[in-house]
Formats: sequence, structure tokens, C-alpha cells
Amino acid sequence: MLVPVQERLRLDIEKWITQYGNDRSSLIPMLQEVQKKYSRISEYAMQVIADQLSIHPVEVHGVVSFYSYLKEAHKGRFEVRLCRTIACDMAGRDRIAQQLRNELGINFGETTPDGRFSLEWANCLGMCDQGPALLVNEQVFTRVTPESIHDILARFRREMDINVFQQAEEH
Ligand code: FES
Repeated sequence: MLVPVQERLRLDIEKWITQYGNDRSSLIPMLQEVQKKYSRISEYAMQVIADQLSIHPVEVHGVVSFYSYLKEAHKGRFEVRLCRTIACDMAGRDRIAQQLRNELGINFGETTPDGRFSLEWANCLGMCDQGPALLVNEQVFTRVTPESIHDILARFRREMDINVFQQAEEH
């Protein structure tokens, strides 16, 4: 049976509470865990954490907005970043950008409605002689072509399906 995202998130937070404890000093590690697993910290996650740590949700919001690495804004599970710097531009960046828009059905700066992918620009990834270069979360892809874009995205879609299935099995 598939577990709804909010239920899964609540169960995860309860699990992390047993690991880190339920006092105020657990706040940052808890937020980092949520960020790592869900790629963002939703309103709901902040509320559950606040309840579990017996602190006001405003305090949780304050911490999330203070630390720039903790993301409140909605980002996809996979952040796809295409290098827009000159060498990749000359190596065919525009064709890749168009392929990404077509495959994902979104523009740069947007997230797919199913929350799987965000599409962003990146500045030089240090792979200038192997452009166009693409980053998906921490993984770099070089010499990408419109055809390979399809395979790369299909691979991440499959990975996410497997994760969802495994998480459903665990609960
Ligand atoms: S210009 Fe794209 S990786 Fe350097």
C-alpha cells in the first residue's frame, strides 16, 4: 500500500526524534534530515517538528529562513541544472535547454507538478571542455545531447519510483 507523503513525513520525523531527542538542540539536525530526504522543508514538516519539539512554528520558520541551505521553497526531488556559461553555450546549450523544457513540460525556474524535477540554470560546472554539462542533484553529466536527456531523466524517474515503492514497503 502506498503511504501518502504527509504520513510518511510524519513517521520519518518521529523516527528522527527518537534519534536526536526532543529538545530544542535537535531542531537543526531534524531540519537537515527533512531537507536531505525530501529536498525541501514544507509548511507541514515545520509544523510537525514544532509540535514534536514543543516550540512555536514561528521559531522553526525563523531558523529555516536564516540558513540559506535549508530550503523552504518548493523544489523538486531532483534539481536539474544546465550550465549556461559560454563554453557550454557554444557546445549547444540551447538545444539541450529546449529538450529539457519539452521533456519536463516546465520552464527554467519551475518545478513539475508531481514535485519530481526542478529546472534551473547553473554557472560553469568546471567541465568546459566536455560541454554541454548538466547537473542532477550532485551528479554531473557531460557532452549531453537531446537524445541522452531523455535517458537521463528516465533513469531518475525510475529511481524515484523504486524509492517510493521501497518506502511503502517499509511502512
Ligand atoms: S562553461 Fe559549462 S562547464 Fe564550464
